[in-house]
Amino acid sequence: MTESFKGTAFVTGASSGLGAIYADRLAKRGYDLVLIARDQARLEALAARLHRDTGSRVVVLPADLSDAAQIAHVAQTIAAAPDIALLVNNAGISLTGTLGTSSAEEAARLVMVNVLAPTLLAQAALQAFKTKAAGAIINIASVLALAPEMFDGAYSGTKAYMLNLSQGLTHETQGTGIHIQAVLPGATRTEIWERSGKDVDAMPADMVMSADDLVDAALLGFDRGETVTIPPLHDLAGWDAMEAARIGLAGQLSRREVAPRYREDTAV
Ligand SMILES: NC(=O)c1ccc[n+]([C@@H]2O[C@H](COP(=O)([O-])OP(=O)(O)OC[C@H]3O[C@@H](n4cnc5c(N)ncnc54)[C@H](OP(=O)(O)O)[C@@H]3O)[C@@H](O)[C@H]2O)c1
Repeated sequence: MTESFKGTAFVTGASSGLGAIYADRLAKRGYDLVLIARDQARLEALAARLHRDTGSRVVVLPADLSDAAQIAHVAQTIAAAPDIALLVNNAGISLTGTLGTSSAEEAARLVMVNVLAPTLLAQAALQAFKTKAAGAIINIASVLALAPEMFDGAYSGTKAYMLNLSQGLTHETQGTGIHIQAVLPGATRTEIWERSGKDVDAMPADMVMSADDLVDAALLGFDRGETVTIPPLHDLAGWDAMEAARIGLAGQLSRREVAPRYREDTAV
């Protein structure tokens, strides 16, 4: 059943995978939608289905988020959207190989789509939210933010950036009515694997989540006001301990004096 109108949600990477499922769930929750990706035909087919099924207003905004001018156009559209309530920064790519085996163009595209675009779109959304002191941003990171040894370091680095950005923005927006959530999927069955020349079925089946389960769990975490949601992590104790240790370090990380172990005369 479609719920009462919630405002407009912008979803990047809505033509497939997690983004298409976010679009489906958000339309059913009563959001109007702006769907962003390159594949206009897929966006239009999804928009027509969601409008027919839910009555939500669904607009497509085809854009290549590896192109600075097109990122700027989407950012301007977000900043000027009068009823924007939510940005889902979901579009993402991974390399076909590692940083060492990829071309410079591919590496630059990775950073544009996974880092520059979500940063500038988040900035635009924050501008739009400021006037009404409400709004939310969902940033799709990855568990690789916590495990760079498990995959290519450049892709993992872009996802660590999304986690870091989300935690920083959570701090900066405290008390403003704005909610930031980082979502950390583990391996999830979507097109990203074949798009980057990888076989998701080469992984043990019990390590791969369905995209529907991932998005439904992430939205439950969103409803609960979580700032970091890790749907595949069963035991939260490890995450809580790591966060406590990280936060505990903060007061010790900037000093005039070099740590004694870096003095020439210190035995190691
Ligand atoms: N699947 C996993 O195992 C997994 C795990 C952790 C995190 N994630 C993250 O989840 C997010 C969604 O990915 P997915 O797994 O759903 O993969 P996907 O099915 O390949 O979806 C990626 C989406 O991003 C869009 N996109 C790619 N390049 C783009 C560009 N240059 N400009 C605009 N849109 C672009 C694609 O649309 P077009 O091709 O139409 O442009 C597509 O809609 C990504 O950020 C990914 O890093 C995925």
